[in-house]
Amino acid sequence: MPHLIADHTTLYYREAGEGPLALFIHGFPLDHTLWLDQLRGLAHLRRCVAPDLRGFGRSDPAGAEGLPMGTMADDVAALIQALDADSADVVGLSMGGYVALALWERHPDLVRTLTLADTRATADGAQAREKRESMIDRLLDRGRSALGEEMVGALLGEAPSARARARLRTMTEATPYETLVAAIEGMKRRQDRTGLLSAMSLPVLVITGEEDSVIPPAEAEALAEAIPGARLVTIPGSGHLPPIEQPEAMTRALEEFWSS
Ligand code: MLT
Repeated sequence: MPHLIADHTTLYYREAGEGPLALFIHGFPLDHTLWLDQLRGLAHLRRCVAPDLRGFGRSDPAGAEGLPMGTMADDVAALIQALDADSADVVGLSMGGYVALALWERHPDLVRTLTLADTRATADGAQAREKRESMIDRLLDRGRSALGEEMVGALLGEAPSARARARLRTMTEATPYETLVAAIEGMKRRQDRTGLLSAMSLPVLVITGEEDSVIPPAEAEALAEAIPGARLVTIPGSGHLPPIEQPEAMTRALEEFWSS
């Protein structure tokens, strides 16, 4: 797989297709394979690139500095520049959406359009931070296979396909311990970015799985309402992970957005 070195860290990415750059940012505790169907389905429209964020997939392990959203956003910026693109259609899911918003905040010129899937702009409240702490404790206590089981229950919709379950387990169980802990810490400390929303002057698509219980559709509606001109697409039969739960509907939503 191709790679680049950003800030002494080797970052891998998968690419398909030709045309304007589209960049796909995965969520937690996932990797670039979240987007395999979209890379296949959108290669006729875009040069589709899906990196493994630092610490995830085949990219280098997370360093002692942990995994702040801003650092991962700077990595994505370095990737867009290394690919010789002026800007990209950026798609971020959940934690990938936190990173995409940080990218917009730090490098707005690199973002042509933004798709925010199953994500939010708010920071963690006290209760969410406590849940993060207890997830770290469970991880250290019972190992990451316990997390794999927990993720299948929490992230997928009411009747997930065997393939979606298998893909989620594979990604979760392949993610190193130190990455899991560093990313949970990074999400726990992320800043509130709702202040950015009303000033967004680029085309924005908000996507939500109709059965998302991690970031429920009502939050996606509020996010779309806060961004001038943003569209909202709700994907039936999906929980938190439309790219693997309803891959065709996810691909179609992006195709329609980019073609409009
Ligand atoms: C994700 O899917 O990236 C995470 O569930 C996001 C979060 O825990 O806030």
